[in-house]
Amino acid sequence: MSEVRTNETQKDAGRVGAAQTGSARTGDPGPLLSVRDLTVTFPTKRGPVRAVDSLAFDVRPGRTLGIVGESGSGKSVTSLAVMGLHTGAEVTGSVALGGRELIGLSDRELNGLRGRRMAMIFQDPLSSLHPYYTVGEQIAEHHRVHFGSRRAAARERAVEALGEVGIPEPRRRAGEYPHQFSGGMRQRVMIAMALSCEPDLLIADEPTTALDVTVQAQILDLIARIQQERGLAVVMITHDLGVVARVAHDVLVMYGGRAAEQAPVDSLFASPAHPYTRGLLDSLPRLDDDDDAPLRAIPGSPPSLLDPAPGCAFAPRCPRAAAGSEVERARCAGERPLLVGPEGHPAACHFPAFPAYEGVAS
Ligand SMILES: Nc1ncnc2c1ncn2[C@@H]1O[C@H](COP(=O)(O)OP(=O)(O)OP(=O)(O)O)[C@@H](O)[C@H]1O
Ligand code: SF4
Ligand SMILES: [Mg+2]
Repeated sequence: MSEVRTNETQKDAGRVGAAQTGSARTGDPGPLLSVRDLTVTFPTKRGPVRAVDSLAFDVRPGRTLGIVGESGSGKSVTSLAVMGLHTGAEVTGSVALGGRELIGLSDRELNGLRGRRMAMIFQDPLSSLHPYYTVGEQIAEHHRVHFGSRRAAARERAVEALGEVGIPEPRRRAGEYPHQFSGGMRQRVMIAMALSCEPDLLIADEPTTALDVTVQAQILDLIARIQQERGLAVVMITHDLGVVARVAHDVLVMYGGRAAEQAPVDSLFASPAHPYTRGLLDSLPRLDDDDDAPLRAIPGSPPSLLDPAPGCAFAPRCPRAAAGSEVERARCAGERPLLVGPEGHPAACHFPAFPAYEGVAS
C-alpha cells in the first residue's frame, strides 16, 4: 500500500458521499454540481468514439472532487462537457448547476454562466493567455465581458485579483505580458482570471502538471485557501494520486471513459476496491523505496474507445482476472461490471477487494 496520506489540515473533517442529496431539515444545501448518466460521443470517420460513458457524481460547496485516471480516460472530455464547451460531440445525460440543467442550454445562456458561476483552469496557461496583451488587460477584459463593468473598474479588479493569488507588486505586474511570468506565476494568473468573477464552481484540469513540486504545492495550497474563504466547489482533474491525496474530499477514478471506483478519499486510499485503483496506488513512490528502484507502472495500454470489448475494459491488464479461475476470467472478458458496492464507495468490478463488498458482488 502507498505511503501517501491524505492531508487533513487542508480539508475539513466531514466527508460527503457522492450520492447524498441536500436536506432542508438539516440545512444542508445539497450538491452545487450534480452530474447524472453523462455520456459524450464523438462521431469520427472510423465510427463513434464514446469518450465518456454513463458518469455520475456530485460536488458540494466547499468540497473538492478529484477525478483521476491515466491519459485518455476521459477526464478532460468530462470537464469540457460540464462547461458546455464541446462542439461536434453528442452530449447526453444531465449536468445540473445549482439545480439548473445545463445540457440543452444555448451558447448565449451558457456564456451567462461561464465565468460568473463556473470557471475552468486549463493545464497549459501559455495556450490560454494571449501573448500580445498584458495579463492585467486580459483579466480586466474577462471581468468586463462577464459583468459589463467599466474599463477602469475592471482594471482595478484585475490588480486586486492578481494580489489575491499572491503575485507580488500586482499593479506593476498587471502591465506585463505572459512571457514575462514564470510557469508558476502564469498559473496564478490563470487562477486570478478564473476567480475574478467569483464563480461557485472551479474546474481545474491538471493545473500543476507542468510545475515543479514546490510550485505545485503552492498552487494547490492557494486553490485550497481560496476554496475555504469562498466556499468554492472544486473539481480537480489529475493523473496524480498524490495531488488527490492532498486536496480532494471525494474521488472518482476513471478508466476508459467510465467510473471504475468512487469513494471518499480516505476510504479510497485505505481500501481500494478496483484492481485499477490498486495499480495506481502501487505506482506511487513509497517512502521506503530504494532511490534506484524503478517506478511500478501498470503494464499494458488503455482500451480502445472505438470498438470497446464486451466485458470489463480493464480485463487485458488486470492482475486479479489473470490470477482468477477460468470461469472468473470468462466473466471478466464477457460481462461488463456494473458500478455497485457499499453506499458511498462503489466499484465497477466483479471481484472487488474491499472487504465490505463481501455479499455485494456475486
Ligand atoms: N474531438 C475528439 N474527437 C474524437 N475523440 C476525442 C476527441 N476529444 C477527445 N477524444 C478522445 O476521448 C478520449 C478521452 O480524452 P480526454 O482528453 O478526456 O483524456 P484525459 O483523461 O483528459 O487524458 P490526459 O490525461 O492525456 O489529459 C481520448 O481517447 C481521446 O482521444
Ligand atoms: S471485473 Fe475482472 S477484469 Fe475487471 S477489474 Fe474486476 S477482476 Fe479485473
Ligand atoms: Mg486531459
